[in-house]
Amino acid sequence: MTRREVLAALAGLTAAACSSSSTTTVSQTDGGDTDAGAADAGGSTCANPPAGTNLGPVSSYPAGTWTKKNSYIVAQDAKGFFAFTAICTHSGCIVNPPATNGDTLCACHGSKFDGNGAVLQGPAALPLQHFAVALCGGDLYVDDNMSVDAATRTPAA
Ligand code: FES
Repeated sequence: MTRREVLAALAGLTAAACSSSSTTTVSQTDGGDTDAGAADAGGSTCANPPAGTNLGPVSSYPAGTWTKKNSYIVAQDAKGFFAFTAICTHSGCIVNPPATNGDTLCACHGSKFDGNGAVLQGPAALPLQHFAVALCGGDLYVDDNMSVDAATRTPAA
């Protein structure tokens, strides 16, 4: 094989690698909700996704409800959306899905929390930590790197 043939073969491999990478990126964009500016399954767009985890469409969290999603409890009251951890402050179990009034029980040792994460019954001594909530493109994001006060709410758009 001549030097020219080797270079041509390498150029072909590089083009194939670039093509494959591009396809992978498109696939990841289509499969996730953390993409920037791409339409999601609901047809919404978010040009500048906020920090945190995309927990899906805002419509999944109607006013007056509490929803356990991943390791979070997400809710909406008259002032807006809020989210707090579903990880019990006693020994780290994931609490049960909230009741219709928002109360949540930890089945491991019986701790009970109200709809804002405050302790109603021990052995847990500390409330469930609230995190920043942001809305973008019709989706709700929770940033567990940003703790907020339990009174913090993110108004519906
Ligand atoms: S871990 Fe929740 S009550 Fe012990």
